[in-house]
Amino acid sequence: MSVILSTSILSADFTNLARDIQMINESEADWFHLDIMDGVFVPNISYGFPVVRAIASLAKKPLDVHLMIVNPDIYIPVLAEIGVDYISVHYETCTHLHRTIQSIHCAGIKAGVAINPHTPVSVLEEIIGDCDLIVLMSVNPGFGGQSFIENSVDKVKRLKKLISVKETKCLIEVDGGINAENAKILVSAGADILVSGSSVFGSNNPRESIKAIKKVR
Ligand code: DX5
Ligand code: ZN
Repeated sequence: MSVILSTSILSADFTNLARDIQMINESEADWFHLDIMDGVFVPNISYGFPVVRAIASLAKKPLDVHLMIVNPDIYIPVLAEIGVDYISVHYETCTHLHRTIQSIHCAGIKAGVAINPHTPVSVLEEIIGDCDLIVLMSVNPGFGGQSFIENSVDKVKRLKKLISVKETKCLIEVDGGINAENAKILVSAGADILVSGSSVFGSNNPRESIKAIKKVR
């Protein structure tokens, strides 16, 4: 099976959002990755629920929401009402992570936990059995277009091992600085889902850039 490509809308042209969503609908990309930032957990603010709702009304592929915000619990109902498919919250923002994961599941949504580049995979030991996916940040969250942190490849391998030891089915998503060149080593290391924003929308031919990542084995 080829890698799942979740395209980050953060790098889309917001003056032509409908056109870019249509392009993703017609492309080989698998999911829409929606980055929500609050200016508190990360030093940037992206977009909020009116935009998520607008994207949802046009998107014909699963919506993969990445919450880079404090207090994510309070926004689960609105995301459920919009009809998103995945919600990932940050380990670093959730004091009661198990409860947050339970709330996402109770809303009928698949749940993910994202960890920052400095956060070790080992902190996931007691929660991984409850997760549908783990998002390994391969840049510091907050901005698109940053350089890939090489240590992330070893983290994918460590996470793969933890998943196997725990005999669970959680997927591994890697987010940040991904292009057709580094995609290969991530897939070999065990990544199931790759997020890509700037390498797709910043290229002269986004559909071809999507194809190039999807071809990686
Ligand atoms: C970073 C976001 C990423 C970002 C990926 O905070 O979580 O999803 O949009 O974009 P690129 O591919 O440009 O690193
Ligand atoms: Zn993201």
